[in-house]
Amino acid sequence: LETETLRQIDAADSETALEAVRVAALGKKGAISALLATLGRMSPDERKTQGARINALKDAVTERIAARRAVLENEALEARLKSEALDVTLAPPASALDRGRLHPLSQVMDELTAIFADMGFAVAEGPDIESDDYNFTKLNFPEGHPAREMHDTFFFEPGPDGRRKLLRTHTSPVQVRTMLTQKPPIRVICPGRTYRCDSDQTHTPMFHQVEGLVIDQTTHIGHLKWALEEFLKAFFEVKSVNLRFRPSFFPFTEPSMEVDVQCRRQGGEIRFGEGEDFMEILGCGMVHPNVLRNCGLDPDVYQGFAFGVGIDRLAMLKYGMPDLRAFFEADARWLQHYGFRP
Ligand code: PHE
Repeated sequence: LETETLRQIDAADSETALEAVRVAALGKKGAISALLATLGRMSPDERKTQGARINALKDAVTERIAARRAVLENEALEARLKSEALDVTLAPPASALDRGRLHPLSQVMDELTAIFADMGFAVAEGPDIESDDYNFTKLNFPEGHPAREMHDTFFFEPGPDGRRKLLRTHTSPVQVRTMLTQKPPIRVICPGRTYRCDSDQTHTPMFHQVEGLVIDQTTHIGHLKWALEEFLKAFFEVKSVNLRFRPSFFPFTEPSMEVDVQCRRQGGEIRFGEGEDFMEILGCGMVHPNVLRNCGLDPDVYQGFAFGVGIDRLAMLKYGMPDLRAFFEADARWLQHYGFRP
């Protein structure tokens, strides 16, 4: 019995097989248990010698089972480690490669900058947190003028000097910063983030504009129209654009115009091109003499034009995106759909 049981233990090739051997030997109805049961019917002398032998057998079997179990467990662990091993130096399969993409806005900003660079415009920048003076006062918004209210401004708490900083409501303060620091001729664009307390399908509290400013001695409104048309043709990659110039009002330009671009709506999408609709994309005009004066330029010598384009609107029109809010929700599926592989 001993040799046979030990042989079976060593032959067990799984923990289940080993358990079966254990039950057959040491279980309630097992062979060794049966032997132990015979002790009761023996004489005291016999019981002493046989008892010792049977118990020694039981110990030997128990020990051998434990040893075999340890071996089997170890083998199982080895096998698992082998099958689950990960070579971190291997290249991932092509299917698992989800490369980053350029956000459509970054792409559009790059396009804008390149187009205007071709037309001789340099890039100027200003901070998102702006003073009331640069955002409004120097731009000829009188104190208490309703146009200030129209901007739905995000104001900060007043500082120790009593002045309130604000999140710039347009990129026009960069006009001021540029004129205060550069001598004409000036030809700059200023792309950047702007903020207004407003949210619906075509407005988000943070949005993007690109400002344009040209100041020289003879710059006139014809140059403005030409620059805008050239820019829009290049941006939408077309031979001609259908624009609508509407008279408008901005405190910092005179005369002022708003410009709509022709578009069509298909399904939920709004796209650039021939259609029944027009979408407003920019405001523009000739820089107001008061603004020139506020920035240290003599309006009898210098004149120029400025424009401010909604970049997000441009992106919507070019790529047929129905809802502006999706731009800033960082939904990976949306980026997958509209994002560009660099
Ligand atoms: N700053 C204006 C706006 O945000 C746009 C504009 C810029 C108008 C420059 C005229 C000249 O609405």
